[in-house]
Amino acid sequence: MAVDVASLPGRIRHRFPVFGQRVYINSCSQGALSDSVREAYGRYLADWDEYGAPWEYWVEQLEAVRGTVARLINADEDEVAITTSVSAGVSALASGLRPGEGRDKIVVSDFEFPTIGQIWHAQERRGVRVEHVPAEADGTIPLERFEAAIDEQTALVAVTHVCFRNGSRLDVEAVARIAHERGALVLVDAYQTVGSLPVDVGALGCDFLAAGVLKYLLGSAGLGFFFCRRALVQEVEPSATGWFADRDIFEMDIHDYSPAPTARRFEAGTPPVPPIYAAIAGVELMQEIGIAETEAHVRELNALLHDGLEELGTRAVTPRAPERSGALVCIPSTDVNVLVAALAAEDVVTSSRDDNLRISAHCYNTADDVRAVLDVLARNRGLLKPA
Ligand SMILES: Cc1ncc(COP(=O)(O)O)c(C=O)c1O
Repeated sequence: MAVDVASLPGRIRHRFPVFGQRVYINSCSQGALSDSVREAYGRYLADWDEYGAPWEYWVEQLEAVRGTVARLINADEDEVAITTSVSAGVSALASGLRPGEGRDKIVVSDFEFPTIGQIWHAQERRGVRVEHVPAEADGTIPLERFEAAIDEQTALVAVTHVCFRNGSRLDVEAVARIAHERGALVLVDAYQTVGSLPVDVGALGCDFLAAGVLKYLLGSAGLGFFFCRRALVQEVEPSATGWFADRDIFEMDIHDYSPAPTARRFEAGTPPVPPIYAAIAGVELMQEIGIAETEAHVRELNALLHDGLEELGTRAVTPRAPERSGALVCIPSTDVNVLVAALAAEDVVTSSRDDNLRISAHCYNTADDVRAVLDVLARNRGLLKPA
């Protein structure tokens, strides 16, 4: 599909008021606020005002967002838990995973978000071993490194789709094939891809997937989701749990633990009602805008960015090849805090991790936004690491 770089943001940018004041190119941290998400929060307050405690409706909204997420990632509704964060879903998994005999190893890529590493290391107190798969000096992790780490003692392999630190994308499908050949399960953290490119749990071949709606799905903080392949749901009995994970939420029985027969068993307490309103609005808006179209659009913007960086004598640490990267492009700096501040002083909103400036374009960004970033970088060349 040929996408006109000008047309996509031209169609939708007016729905994101932040662009009236700033060049917002930081969706790897948080999506821009749209008119429809603002309106959804207004509706939440109006419903609360008008009905007092409309819990029946709010539980219906929980089921509605479950359906929205399931369709988004090509799962069935009974394979999706609505959580408050990636951490909550993965903690529920870790608390209930019963690895087979002799499988005491968790393999964790070096691209994982802190929460993933920390949750699996927390399981060391329960007899699990954690092995990290290190990255090469060029910031990629070759498949051979996974081949070497995953063995017959491996219970689970944790991989991230796109790394939040350097924008590098892992070949999740190939890692999943290696893991499955050796009898290990696969958990994918898709937070840096979901909404920026099509994510399909069947195509990825994963057993579990965790993400949230805060970034490229245009929702807000407080709502994550967790996918568990149907055949595995009964195999995991989370001890990090709560009444909304129970077989019958309204049984109110304090005498036993009977988890839901579906992925709802990965949930816990009272659902996050306000961000549920926002998530439905954000995800539906993103689907209306078009996720595949957004991916193509951002690839064109990122090609401009990479070319501009080359002209400035620097190079992103993010691989340029489309199959090795996503929306996020990370640029090495000699003093990234000063660089982020220099951009902010010119109303360009970005973020950083490690020594890298993070530029993450989305559906609403334009070639002019990329040029605005490059102009500030040109005026601050001394803060860029030479290629
Ligand atoms: C790759 C990735 N995983 C997870 C998270 C966040 O996890 P949680 O929802 O537990 O805060 C982020 C960003 O905040 C992320 O970039």
